[in-house]
Amino acid sequence: MQLRHKPYEGLFITLEGGDGCGKSTLSALLSKELAKKGYPVLKTREPGGTPLSEHLRDVVLKPDPNRPVGERAELLLFLAARVQHIDEVILPALRDRKLLICERFNDSTIAYQGCRKHVGVHVAEQICDLACNHLVPDLTLLLDLDPIIGLQRLSKERKNLDRLEQEELQFHIEVRTAYLHLADKYPERIIIIDGSATPEEVCAASLKALEPHLMLKPTSLS
Ligand code: TMP
Repeated sequence: MQLRHKPYEGLFITLEGGDGCGKSTLSALLSKELAKKGYPVLKTREPGGTPLSEHLRDVVLKPDPNRPVGERAELLLFLAARVQHIDEVILPALRDRKLLICERFNDSTIAYQGCRKHVGVHVAEQICDLACNHLVPDLTLLLDLDPIIGLQRLSKERKNLDRLEQEELQFHIEVRTAYLHLADKYPERIIIIDGSATPEEVCAASLKALEPHLMLKPTSLS
């Protein structure tokens, strides 16, 4: 089935939010619902989505006291994973008119690495834009959640937290604030969804936010 009014390109949807906000659950539910409606859905995630990017995910996220990751190296590792993902998966899927659901993209880098003292939001935003050749999602669903609840959810789900998840609460609070600033700055693209609602409620709110975008004209990706 073709996306309405998008005869030659797909739709790029990103899911964003702090750790434990429910992105993966939403990605699974949303893909299922949209596939049921006949849309050609492809779900993917960052960092990851290609063999190299998954490898870089391990490198950047695995806590290892013998292998510290500096703030600027962290920024560039996330971007290296992303650029490979764009070339290998994202652009081919969008050119193939897929409805692409991607967990995390540049907003994650701006929110997380932007909070790093030696990076900052301005540099993170500029370098993301350049590295990704100005590729911007058509719609971003931001699952907003108190980081205390997010971190509690995570520690119930699993014992081993990754390097970023292990950051202190203050860092996660700053990440949430950075996301909310992004939503303020790009209200036409970023829709805030209440991440404390049930998975079914989050999915229903996301489908509602998505509906008008299935009618829009395609964004040029070249
Ligand atoms: P995930 O567990 O939600 O897939 O995300 C992995 C972690 O990586 C999460 O703590 C957020 C972090 N991250 C960044 O700091 N910058 C980025 O650009 C991306 C994509 C993820």
